[in-house]
Amino acid sequence: MKKHKLLLCLLLLFSLQIFANSSKHCAKDLHALAKARRMGGHLDYLDFSQLHISNHIGNDRYDAHRIVAVRLQTGVYYKLGKKLGYGRYGVVYCIEVGCKLALKIPKSGYRVHSFIEEVKNGPLLKRAGITSAHILDHGYNYAYLIKEYVPGKTAKELLTEGRYTDQQIRELATIYKKAKTHQLSLDVNPANFVWSEEVQTFILVDNFFRGRELGFGDKRLQWWQNELFYHNQDQAQRFAELIKEG
Ligand SMILES: Nc1ncnc2c1ncn2[C@@H]1O[C@H](COP(=O)(O)OP(=O)(O)O)[C@@H](O)[C@H]1O
Ligand SMILES: [Mg+2]
Repeated sequence: MKKHKLLLCLLLLFSLQIFANSSKHCAKDLHALAKARRMGGHLDYLDFSQLHISNHIGNDRYDAHRIVAVRLQTGVYYKLGKKLGYGRYGVVYCIEVGCKLALKIPKSGYRVHSFIEEVKNGPLLKRAGITSAHILDHGYNYAYLIKEYVPGKTAKELLTEGRYTDQQIRELATIYKKAKTHQLSLDVNPANFVWSEEVQTFILVDNFFRGRELGFGDKRLQWWQNELFYHNQDQAQRFAELIKEG
């Protein structure tokens, strides 16, 4: 009987602990949300565990640019950190302290297919030996994507600051060749390539494929040159030479 009571006490303590932790967590994030609302007035909170994705995407019931906090389908709250960027279908934010993860949420005009494609392309990129940000979760019905955060400067930032190093051009040429061999139409927006100092290569952070109509001939090469080198003609030329070298 005594043993029974002790077990019951332990169980009670354990559940109290869980409750305290979760309410502390929620309270902290909701407090941040309330503060953000006070400051901005027009900012929003998105609850993926309450809303069905098809009900609120594409009908402008929310604008992903105004979201300051989210609750994922797993029930976890996140205050959104730095906005990493946005494109046609999504907006990407840092989540967790130190930006450990990147969360991509749909914006108006979103097509579920774009998120499905990103998830499907992950293994294709891996098979081709192209390093891309690992997708860790896509939520039920592809409501959002959680990717590993890749620290570093994007090719776009490197271009704005000046020129690529020879090593960087070599890495781009290697990625180009791998993509060509495996017939993968990478989206060569320079903001999609992050230079990792750690592994000394560019890591693709957007798995979406674009430009299939270009095929894999000269037109595609030209596209890469235009997108990734802008006005640095000599560097674009170097890139083309490296590709011809095989
Ligand atoms: N995992 C990540 N790590 C670092 N930066 C990222 C990551 N994911 C996205 N970004 C940045 O955010 C931008 C927008 O994300 P992206 O997935 O390309 O959106 P879209 O599909 O709408 O183009 C990217 O161009 C990149 O600069
Ligand atoms: Mg992109």
